[in-house]
Amino acid sequence: AAAAFFAAELLNWYDANKRDLPWRRDRDPYRIWVSEVMLQQTRVDTVIPYYERFMERFPTVRHLAEAPEEEVLKCWEGLGYYSRARNLQAGARQVVELYGGVVPDDKAAISSLKGIGPYTAGAILSIAYNKPEPAVDGNVMRVMSRYFLLEDDIAKPSARTKIERLAASIIPEGRAGDFNQAVMELGALVCTPKSPGCLLCPVLAQCAGRAAGRERELPVKSKA
Ligand code: ADE
Repeated sequence: AAAAFFAAELLNWYDANKRDLPWRRDRDPYRIWVSEVMLQQTRVDTVIPYYERFMERFPTVRHLAEAPEEEVLKCWEGLGYYSRARNLQAGARQVVELYGGVVPDDKAAISSLKGIGPYTAGAILSIAYNKPEPAVDGNVMRVMSRYFLLEDDIAKPSARTKIERLAASIIPEGRAGDFNQAVMELGALVCTPKSPGCLLCPVLAQCAGRAAGRERELPVKSKA
């Protein structure tokens, strides 16, 4: 019951409250891919102008694959973590060479691309292709740890695996991309790390962490 409530209320909330972000205007898997790579270590507000410039300069996976690496790095300048840009271009070249320029829609193929780990694979498959795959990042681990009162140490791979299984089991039929983005959005806007806005939360009524008064202690995360 708690899981069904979570999914249903979160989708309603997302439909009414989602931010109008440039990568939410269509479902082009290449554009979703670029946005997710940029968002891995960088805040939404910082990413937006970089994303717009990058898309003007490299509008398709072929444009990116065929560009000189230095131009890609120049476009990335200021975002940091430059291996992300190199891997993204290497992945784009793989898509052109191995898949005729079409970003693959199955998990094994997409996961074999440079720079695409479980989170990015899940994000592209769910948001672009609406496949029922989880996309668990730090926001999602925080939200789910609080709502389901999970005390596992999220620094451990086993905790992530458990949360991925739980998330996968509650993805609503036909709305995988919206559900994943709704959880991320709740984590970004309401269920924030330090002082969560529980009074604005659409799933407060069934939140086990809040009911126990433990929302600020969760998730558990070891340092080392
Ligand atoms: N952070 C990571 N992916 C995101 C997305 N699709 N929308 C907003 N924030 C995000």
